[in-house]
Amino acid sequence: MSILDKHKKLERNSLLLLGCAILVVLVGGIIEIIPLFRKETTIEPVMNIRPYTPLELTGFNIYVREGCYLCHSQQIRPLRDEVARYGHYSLAAESMYDHPFQWGSKRTGPDLARVGGKYSDEWHVSHLKNPRDLVPESIMPTYSFLARNGADLRFIESSMRTLRMEGVPYTDEMLENAEKDALNQATGDERGNTDGLHERYKNVTARDFDGNSNLISEMDALVAYLQTLGTMVDFEAGKNVEDSAP
Ligand code: HEC
Repeated sequence: MSILDKHKKLERNSLLLLGCAILVVLVGGIIEIIPLFRKETTIEPVMNIRPYTPLELTGFNIYVREGCYLCHSQQIRPLRDEVARYGHYSLAAESMYDHPFQWGSKRTGPDLARVGGKYSDEWHVSHLKNPRDLVPESIMPTYSFLARNGADLRFIESSMRTLRMEGVPYTDEMLENAEKDALNQATGDERGNTDGLHERYKNVTARDFDGNSNLISEMDALVAYLQTLGTMVDFEAGKNVEDSAP
């Protein structure tokens, strides 16, 4: 019996064809999908990606609480127009420590994946207080209350502990110093003492983000977070992909 004859048999028996088709799809599906469950196989390790500092993480939590993701995506697709507008397309590793991830599915406002460093802290503060002051036609809501609310740092250590269960590499030392690191990052390098913050986290800027030194506000935390977005990888430096896992 030639191979064509065998195929004839298959084509003439609908149940047999159905059974074989299901088998093929199942086996193919398993081979394609199962490896993706292991993060290590899907995310290429990239240099300089670090977990958020406690202050930035507080900002991240505010970003999620306020639903910024409903209007803003954080994923630049590798299409020419997106790359021309927003910069280098997003790497998987850049959001590997985001739980929940903030890729978003709607862009009422622009993508924010690389907004870090695009504007000054003052710009962000005035924009969040009243977007219309800077962009007259903006439909973004005002978030002026963030400047009045003190940042709640009571739960930041537990928040980090929970993320550690998810695989974010926070060390014991980072957990122990969580609250102190948040305070030190928001009061700034000007005081000249950030007490180990820079040793624990690479490439951190410590400053008074909201310009009000009397209060460590939710605005401080959110702006600290926005200013790190998309800045961890130095695309100019060329070789960022390491041979071994981080
Ligand atoms: C109702 C939709 C909406 C929500 C919710 C929203 N934004 Fe916006 N955002 C916009 C629009 C529209 C723009 C563009 C006009 C402007 O700059 O104000 C924008 C612009 C921005 C920009 C400037 C981006 C750039 O590259 O110029 C930042 C930063 C920003 N938003 C941050 C936030 C943050 C943080 C939150 C949550 C606290 C938030 N937005 C919530 C609609 C929204």
